[in-house]
Amino acid sequence: MKLLSLSYERFRNLEPISLEPSPHATIAVGENGQGKTNLLEGLYLLATLKPLRANKLSELIRFGEPSAKVTGRFLIAGAEREISVEVIPGGRTAFVDGKRAHSLDAYFGGVSVVAFTPDDLAVVKGGPDGRRAFLDRSVFNVVPGYLDESREYGRALKSRNKLLKDRAPMSHLQAWDATLAKLGARLWVRRRGLMVSLVERARAAFQRIGRSPLEAQWSYEPAHLGEGIVFGTASEAELAAQMLGRLDARLTRDVERGFTSVGPHADDVDITLGEKPARAYASQGQSRALVLAWKVAEIENLQQQNGFLPLLLLDDVSSELDPERNAFLMGYLADSGAQTLLTTTDAALVTRAAGADTKWYRVHAGRISPEHR
Ligand SMILES: Nc1ncnc2c1ncn2[C@@H]1O[C@H](COP(=O)(O)OP(=O)(O)OP(=O)(O)O)[C@@H](O)[C@H]1O
Ligand SMILES: [Mg+2]
Repeated sequence: MKLLSLSYERFRNLEPISLEPSPHATIAVGENGQGKTNLLEGLYLLATLKPLRANKLSELIRFGEPSAKVTGRFLIAGAEREISVEVIPGGRTAFVDGKRAHSLDAYFGGVSVVAFTPDDLAVVKGGPDGRRAFLDRSVFNVVPGYLDESREYGRALKSRNKLLKDRAPMSHLQAWDATLAKLGARLWVRRRGLMVSLVERARAAFQRIGRSPLEAQWSYEPAHLGEGIVFGTASEAELAAQMLGRLDARLTRDVERGFTSVGPHADDVDITLGEKPARAYASQGQSRALVLAWKVAEIENLQQQNGFLPLLLLDDVSSELDPERNAFLMGYLADSGAQTLLTTTDAALVTRAAGADTKWYRVHAGRISPEHR
C-alpha cells in the first residue's frame, strides 16, 4: 500500500492543498500552532475514519465552513483507489472511487496506519482510559469491524447507565444485560487476541530499544471478572455468561453508584517493568520506550498480517524523546522502508529518517509549501 497523493479542503486551518508524499519519508517542518498536527490529523481520519485527537469530528471543519473534506489516492494491491471522507456537523461520509462506501471492511481492506503522538507517549503514566483507547486503536488496526463493535457496546452501556441513574426498575435494567454482556464479551475476545499477537513482539522490541536491563510486560485481564473462569482460554460464550453473572452480582452496587462497574469499559492494561507497575515506577524515558516498543510491535504485526507495512504518522515525537531513543526511532524508520509522514519543529531532529527521496514541506499559518534542502 502506498499513499500517492493527498488533498485537503476546509480542513482545520489548512489552506486547500494537494500534495504528493514520498514513498518513504515526508517531513513537514513548522513552528508551533501552524498546522502540522492538522496535516496528520486529516490523513489519520482518511485511513481510520476516527479522529486523531478531536473529541468531535465537527472540530475538523474549518471555522465558518459547512464541511471539510480529505481525499487520498492510494495504491492498494496494485490498483489505484481514491478514498475521501467528508465531515459535516452531524457526521462523516466515506467514499471509495467517488461512491459512498457502505461496508467499512471494504473501505479499510488495505489501508492501515500507525500514529505516534506526544499524547501516546504519556499513556503509560496516565489514566486507564488512555491505555484502553491506546489498546483499542491497535485492535481496530487489525480488525476494522471493531470500530462498529465498540460503538455498539458504547451505546448499550450508555443506555444501561442512564437507567441506573434514573433508578429504573430492575427488570428494565436486566433487559439490557444480556445484550451488554454479549457485546462486551466480543470486545474482550478482540482485545485478548491483540494482546496474544503483540505482547511477545513488544517485549523483544523493548530489549532492542534498550538502555534498560529490565524486562517489560503487558497484560490485560478484565476487572471484576470473578471466580470460576480463566480469561486466557474461555470462549466468547463463556465470557458473555460470566459478564452477565457479574452484572447481576454487582447490580445493587451499580445502582448506588449510577454506573456499570464491570465490562471492557472498566478495564486496564497492566504494564510492568522488572515486575513493578510502570505507571508508578518507570522513568519518563522508560515509559516512552515502552510506548515505542508497543508501536514497533504493532507495525511488525500489521506487516505480517497484511503483507505490507502500515503508513506511519509521527507528530513531533522526536522532541519528546531522549537523543538515543530518538536515534533508535529514526534509524528504525529509515531501515523499515515504511512510508512515513513526520512533523517537527526542528528538522535537525529527524534528518536520520530522511533519504534521497525525502520530500520536505514547510507549514506556516495553514499553508503547506514544498521546501528544497
Ligand atoms: N476548525 C478549525 N478551523 C480553523 N483553524 C483551526 C481549526 N482548528 C484548529 N485551528 C487552528 O489550527 C492551529 C493549530 O494547528 P496545529 O495543532 O496543527 O498546530 P501545530 O503546528 O501542530 O502546533 P504545535 O507545534 O504547537 O503542536 C491553531 O492556530 C488553531 O487555531
Ligand atoms: Mg501539533
